Amino acid sequence: MTVPIIDKTCRFVEEKLAGEGSGHDWWHIYRVWNLAKNIAGKEGANLMVVELSALLHDIADWKFHNGDDSIGPKVAEQFLTANHVERRVIDPVIEIIASISYKGAGVPTPMKTLEGKVVQDADRLDAIGALGIARTFAYGGYKNRLIYHPEEKPVLHQSFDDYKKNQGHTINHFYEKLLLLKDRMNTASGKRLAEARHQFMQAYLDQFYREWDGTA
Ligand code: NI
Repeated sequence: MTVPIIDKTCRFVEEKLAGEGSGHDWWHIYRVWNLAKNIAGKEGANLMVVELSALLHDIADWKFHNGDDSIGPKVAEQFLTANHVERRVIDPVIEIIASISYKGAGVPTPMKTLEGKVVQDADRLDAIGALGIARTFAYGGYKNRLIYHPEEKPVLHQSFDDYKKNQGHTINHFYEKLLLLKDRMNTASGKRLAEARHQFMQAYLDQFYREWDGTA
């Protein structure tokens, strides 16, 4: 059974994110949506809230609006209101969109609802593993960052402002975010999926350094 508002939201998001080249394109949304549905089923979360939040979670990401993280929830609220979605669905959806982003190693980003925990897990799972590696290098290229610099060490950002200003090479991003995500999963299903993806990244980094040194 397809729900008309879900179909409509897919089309709206696909259109908005067309041509996005930094790893936050429609296919990221599509994967997060599928993962979120999968986790929601196992955790017993409200599917309508989960699906709409997953589909709209990057509609206006702060990374692309000079750090303004208030635009996404506004755009989502306008879209959902215009499409006559009930207030009791809109409120949790915009609350989730406002609080979902990773803001640095030392900055807690707690989710209040089960639905928020599910969507945040799905979004973070797409940032790790094989897909996470692909997206991280795509984003680094988009920002003109080096792949790696052996003398520049990772920084565990203690504030969202410092994290936003970060200009480091892409391998550092593994230590500043990707490898920390498995311990920040909210749900049991999210934790299980994160474990395998984490091990894959660890193996990737081991091989990366061997190749860098010319020993493999
Ligand atoms: Ni996302």
